[in-house]
Amino acid sequence: MPFRIKIAPSILSARFDRLGEQVVAADQAGADLLHIDIMDGHFVPNLTMGPAVVKSIRPLTKVPLDAHLMVERPQDFIKDFADAGADDLTVHVESTHDVRATFRAIRDAGLSPGLVLNPATPFEKAAPHLAEADLLLVMTVHPGFAGQTFHGEVVPKIRQARTFIDKEGLACQLEVDGGIKVDTAAIVAEAGADILVSGSGIFPDRVAENLRALRAAAERGAKNRV
Ligand code: DX5
Ligand code: ZN
Repeated sequence: MPFRIKIAPSILSARFDRLGEQVVAADQAGADLLHIDIMDGHFVPNLTMGPAVVKSIRPLTKVPLDAHLMVERPQDFIKDFADAGADDLTVHVESTHDVRATFRAIRDAGLSPGLVLNPATPFEKAAPHLAEADLLLVMTVHPGFAGQTFHGEVVPKIRQARTFIDKEGLACQLEVDGGIKVDTAAIVAEAGADILVSGSGIFPDRVAENLRALRAAAERGAKNRV
């Protein structure tokens, strides 16, 4: 089967006064997942949304809801997101928790666990956990806000993760988040990403055109993989 890049629009850049419409637009445009940025004002200097938003968009789409937990204690919110209808819960290695125990609790709740690395965190912090992870999310901006500039110095870490996952034969998918536009989509796809998150590259206007352009760029990049 030919390799297909997955695109995960981040609703953080959607218009919240028309969130339902924007979710449906992303779904109809062929989004593979919907990325939901959860921020607690402690782990990152911003507040966004919580389980109530996940619950309200759940009936609008069948695509997996990929909740990115930028919170200090992710272990405290697993049940809330499971009850709300999330599918994936990605948690930062930099948060205050025991990754192994958090992963186990996420699986026990029936969800897929993933681990997130900030731009400055080395890949080695994630490696010991990847056999238990369904996702590795590599941040290409400092988490906290949409619309920031892509950090190109993270690209070698994406390549390192791709090589490790393939060499170990792991089922873990490699997701990249932050500053993904047409130009950077090609770069991270070439470096080995499976899933591309994009907020301001897709929302709020021309959702279908933006998604199509991003996918085309990513597929071009993936063809150049060595
Ligand atoms: C940043 C979030 C990202 C963000 C992406 O803290 O984790 O998911 O919404 O937005 P863009 O694509 O605009 O950088
Ligand atoms: Zn995110």
